Amino acid sequence: MIAAGVDIGSTASKAVILDGDRVLASRIGPSSTNPGRTAREIFQQALAQAGISEARVNFIVGTGYGRAQVAFAHTNVSELSCHGRGAHFYLPAARTVLDIGGQDTKAICIDQEGNLLDFVMNDKCAAGTGRFLEMMARTLGMGFDEFAAMHFQEGEPCVIGNMCSVFAESEVINLVNEGAALPRIIKGLHQSLAGRVAALAKRVGIEPEVVITGGVAKNAGVIDAVEKKLGQKLANFPPGVDPQIIGALGAALIARDQAQRSGQT
Ligand SMILES: Nc1ncnc2c1ncn2[C@@H]1O[C@H](COP(=O)(O)OP(=O)(O)OP(=O)(O)O)[C@@H](O)[C@H]1O
Ligand SMILES: [Mg+2]
Repeated sequence: MIAAGVDIGSTASKAVILDGDRVLASRIGPSSTNPGRTAREIFQQALAQAGISEARVNFIVGTGYGRAQVAFAHTNVSELSCHGRGAHFYLPAARTVLDIGGQDTKAICIDQEGNLLDFVMNDKCAAGTGRFLEMMARTLGMGFDEFAAMHFQEGEPCVIGNMCSVFAESEVINLVNEGAALPRIIKGLHQSLAGRVAALAKRVGIEPEVVITGGVAKNAGVIDAVEKKLGQKLANFPPGVDPQIIGALGAALIARDQAQRSGQT
């Protein structure tokens, strides 16, 4: 039985194709001002990677900001449920999922089956999201990998006092001009983001195990800073699993369940 999940996020679009419990393909591409077209393109790319025709797909679930634009999906589901299900697939002991996406951050509580119990979200402000770090990396003229790697170089973190990303950017420019070392600034930025994420996690109630999903989970500096703020280790996805596709994977798992329930196999 073939199921698909298509996650049209504010920043990136993702598609996953599942055959039962096996991930056949997963694709990530940029979101656009035409989410309907982007959804079709990313789905087609995933089908090509899986080497199967669209006609063989039994059920498709859309999720993410643009989920209503996934016209070819049979139904759509909130990304909160999808991140919970996707995280549970690889980490059945996970009870708290922190989804750090491009535009917002969500702290999600799940039960032992990966079902959503509760959530808190930060959606009115860029601080504490991928956008915040993207802005800062651009200001410092760095790519993702170089930016994240600096976190592990020597030096005490600078204190970034401003909660607002626009003011924090000015603060970073001032620090650069005062001669502060870049690793110290970057550690300070990761600490500031981690403070936001930890506050959100505390509001929803932290139950171990805790895991981070979304594109920002690929930044090892953020993982380190959140672990320090929470005072506990985060659960790791198995090697080779991209945390950015977890929402699309959850959508595909929900699609699989719905197909089975409606008797399509
Ligand atoms: N290799 C990487 N290292 C660090 N950060 C990354 C990497 N790849 C992507 N990102 C960050 O991940 C973010 C996008 O993640 P994701 O796809 O989970 O967001 P989204 O689903 O589009 O957003 P939202 O859930 O807020 O609508 C971007 O802000 C980008 O900065
Ligand atoms: Mg998302």
